[in-house]
Amino acid sequence: MSATAVDVRADFPVLDREGLVYLDSAATSQKPHQVIEAMDDYYRNSNAPIHRSVYPLAAEATELFEGARERVARFVGWDARTTIFTRNATEAINLVAYAWGRENVGQGDEVLITRMEHHSNIVPWQLLCQERGARLRYVSVDRDGELAMDELDEALGEGRVKLVGVAHISNVLGTLNPVEDVVRRARAVGALTLVDGSQAAPQLSLDLRAIDADFYVWTGHKALGPTGIGVLHGRAELLEQMRPFLGGGHMISRVDDQTSTWNELPWKFEAGTSEIAEAVGLGAAVDYLSAIGMDSVRAHERELTAYALERMPEIDGLTVFGPPDPERRGGVISFAMPGIHPHDIGELCGREGVCVRAGHHCAQPLMRDMGVPATARASFHVYNSRYDIDRLVDALAKAREVFEL
Ligand SMILES: Cc1ncc(COP(=O)(O)O)c(C=O)c1O
Repeated sequence: MSATAVDVRADFPVLDREGLVYLDSAATSQKPHQVIEAMDDYYRNSNAPIHRSVYPLAAEATELFEGARERVARFVGWDARTTIFTRNATEAINLVAYAWGRENVGQGDEVLITRMEHHSNIVPWQLLCQERGARLRYVSVDRDGELAMDELDEALGEGRVKLVGVAHISNVLGTLNPVEDVVRRARAVGALTLVDGSQAAPQLSLDLRAIDADFYVWTGHKALGPTGIGVLHGRAELLEQMRPFLGGGHMISRVDDQTSTWNELPWKFEAGTSEIAEAVGLGAAVDYLSAIGMDSVRAHERELTAYALERMPEIDGLTVFGPPDPERRGGVISFAMPGIHPHDIGELCGREGVCVRAGHHCAQPLMRDMGVPATARASFHVYNSRYDIDRLVDALAKAREVFEL
């Protein structure tokens, strides 16, 4: 899709900025004008409260919102009824930890996550385990950035794990985890699974029925959509059993003085006024990605990753973290250079117009295992090209000169 990449760059207004090379899509992606215009059009022409009012403008807004849900669900091969809009992936994980976890995890139980999780898939489980007297366990990551599957089996075999939480693609190492396999192994011992697809939904063709996780979450702003919207896909029977996460308007069927009954799925988990324009924007984003074709998006990410893995080691002493094989990773590359702090790499690249992230990437346990306080990170999306990677390599070479290395 390299030719397409050049074509689509023009769809992203912010990339018109002189000399800008944006390599921070794992933090947040840029937005095509189709998304910006869909949101603008919603506010200009269709804005109204959804679900409750019967006049035509409200019916139109409701249709736009629910239509977006249907397209978002279809994009990943799931049902609209069990596709819940949240504020972001973080909120989706908190929803499960709170609404499912508090009822189902108790003293002596375990929640099993991996050392490569984002803080979003660590802290909600810490809070749950502390409250419920349960234990939070971790599966370690080997030197190539792959999960230690024998440790997963060992922990599952002890019979106390209630839920396994795993990132589909690591936001630090780029590792593409064998989530179907994790789900199968967990289910064999009666444990549920939550897959964090925040880095995967933007770049893989997903079939959630094939993955078969109990919960799958992702976040709109990394998938060319707006901020303020995330998604939880869950198994119907679990969502039906779970108590609500947040209480308020819209999520109820009837409110009596002391008790209430809940609305049907998915609205039972969507308290308060929904993020209507954001849903419309996310609907436009998945339409945009689907028009390119997710197989082409993946092929493009893979090709850029392979090219970056080939070119970056030209810089003396540069270390790349994560699996060496581009087939085993998404479009995210963390790296370090001896003698230059990652923040200085970020700043010096920034002076050359190259945007890379520097920091712990919300993965402090993993950073400790890697023996570094922070890394620099370059990440790609459809609008990037080999030229952007060449610019990164030039900027890194200049950074070495500045530090007289
Ligand atoms: C793997 C992973 N999970 C979760 C998140 C959290 O996303 P959000 O802040 O949109 O909830 C991120 C964002 O960096 C991520 O990379």
